[in-house]
Amino acid sequence: MVSEFRLSQTVEAGGCSAKLSPQQLEDILKQVPVKESPNVVVSSKTHDDAGIISLPSGEYLIQTTDFFPPMVDDPFVFGEVAAANALSDVYAMGGKPICAMSLVMFPSQSMDSQILVNMLKGGTKKVEEAGATIIGGHTIDDEPLKYGLAVTGIIKPENLVTNSGAKPGDLLILTKALGTAILTGARKVGLITEKDVQPAIEVMTMLNKTGAEIMVKAGVKAATDITGFGLLGHAYRLASASNVTFRIETKSVPALPGAIDLIKKGGIPGGSMRNLEFVRKHIVFLPSLKDERKWLTLDPQTSGGLLMSVSPVKANKLLSDLQNAGLKDASIIGEVFPAGQKSVLIG
Ligand code: CO
Ligand code: CO
Repeated sequence: MVSEFRLSQTVEAGGCSAKLSPQQLEDILKQVPVKESPNVVVSSKTHDDAGIISLPSGEYLIQTTDFFPPMVDDPFVFGEVAAANALSDVYAMGGKPICAMSLVMFPSQSMDSQILVNMLKGGTKKVEEAGATIIGGHTIDDEPLKYGLAVTGIIKPENLVTNSGAKPGDLLILTKALGTAILTGARKVGLITEKDVQPAIEVMTMLNKTGAEIMVKAGVKAATDITGFGLLGHAYRLASASNVTFRIETKSVPALPGAIDLIKKGGIPGGSMRNLEFVRKHIVFLPSLKDERKWLTLDPQTSGGLLMSVSPVKANKLLSDLQNAGLKDASIIGEVFPAGQKSVLIG
């Protein structure tokens, strides 16, 4: 049954729409104007991680959703990954998830219902670990299987972390290693073993809860989570929303064990190529940039880490707090400059 579960996969790992390019989606959404409401604090205009609306109580409500087909063999683990990924956008705003709704597309003709049970158990485990609760959902018959959550969170206005708060002089901190699509893709075609893919599974099932709590305590004002567009795509969005330029040093960017080797052997996911198309005109690729490091930063992540922009006086303490809390790969990966010609310089 497990192999049947896995065979249903037709779209690769990496969160956002694989076939529809980010630019195409942007062009489509431009044709569907949304009437402004005075209560909206953050809308999709700034490409933030979640939408935010202010409540009559003064608190902010955070809403986000994400779902996708399996990228791992085990239904329970897939449930954990899908839930951790969906919850992540609340954390990227500095918020606290309070409840979630399950979104399930399940091929009941070709799959044993026990797969669905195990997948939902994995998702429920992560929602509970987040301190939130599942209060409903919707299931339809569909091939291939897809699963995710619509998540609601809350945040005090003074703690809000958006894409537009990065300031020149800030340092950039990334909390998790990159390479989840490279590893899960290599596992899919049998290039690596179940044991080799474990570091990716650890990253994908780990909540961004601890990272977000430490980030808010440190007073960080700008962050995003790294998902389908890769580090470079999400760095571009953060930099452009903040009207600054980032400089990223790829030698400081943490990589999952085996990821760089797989890139050197040609194991570059299709999503990385699409990400390059999406970002290339906004990026300066410095002569010092090694090709394998470039592809690492374009790797579409599922449930990737937080990318935070933090004032240099706070950065070292924040970094050691993250590492001491178990985020062993957390690293300072770059610096923020006043806006130049391009959004990101990468070397
Ligand atoms: Co996000
Ligand atoms: Co998404």
